[in-house]
Amino acid sequence: MPGHLTVVEHPLVQHKLTLMRDADTPTGLFRQLLREVSTLLAYEVTRDLPVTTRRVHTPLEPMDAPVLDGRKLALVSILRAGNGLLDGMLDLMPSARVGFVGLYRDEETLEPVQYYCKLPEALSERRVIVVDPMLATGNSSAAAIALVKEAGAVDVRFLCLLAAPEGVQRMADAHPDVPVVTASVDERLNEKGYIVPGLGDAGDRMYGTR
Ligand code: URA
Repeated sequence: MPGHLTVVEHPLVQHKLTLMRDADTPTGLFRQLLREVSTLLAYEVTRDLPVTTRRVHTPLEPMDAPVLDGRKLALVSILRAGNGLLDGMLDLMPSARVGFVGLYRDEETLEPVQYYCKLPEALSERRVIVVDPMLATGNSSAAAIALVKEAGAVDVRFLCLLAAPEGVQRMADAHPDVPVVTASVDERLNEKGYIVPGLGDAGDRMYGTR
């Protein structure tokens, strides 16, 4: 995947993102939109997957037709908001393995604290896509990617819905080998570590908590 950062400017993605930003969008619709956007972002993050050909017989004649080649896929969700991206991505990649990393953010230091980690086996043989809707400080994402690499992953990319410039920079510093795909890089982080203008707390918006 060329370049470290890809911003997906497709009109459908941008339209759905705008609806998600609206504080009046209810929980059920927010979740549905996140699922739809994740499918569109999955399309972008897999754009450079290698293909080979396979002989098939159409009703008319044989042909060598393209099929995916190389490493199998693994998705790793950063709990809990990352789960909102999984179903839409799995619609496109039904045989991908799925892992989970649980990190909460210490509200004072903004540093990530790990409370759960369950990853697929043989990550070194898989192309790994780590997902979290919000790349804010980048601390959680950088920590999750470090765990995935410790487990053997060598081909890792990161997919989010929204990013702050600070998070993009943090990822570039901590994991320059990991491409980042997002729908928007917003203005900044506020003093509480929220992306501004953003969409609020993605987990709360998805699950109606708070
Ligand atoms: N996590 C969120 O859910 N929202 C933000 O704005 C930042 C981090």
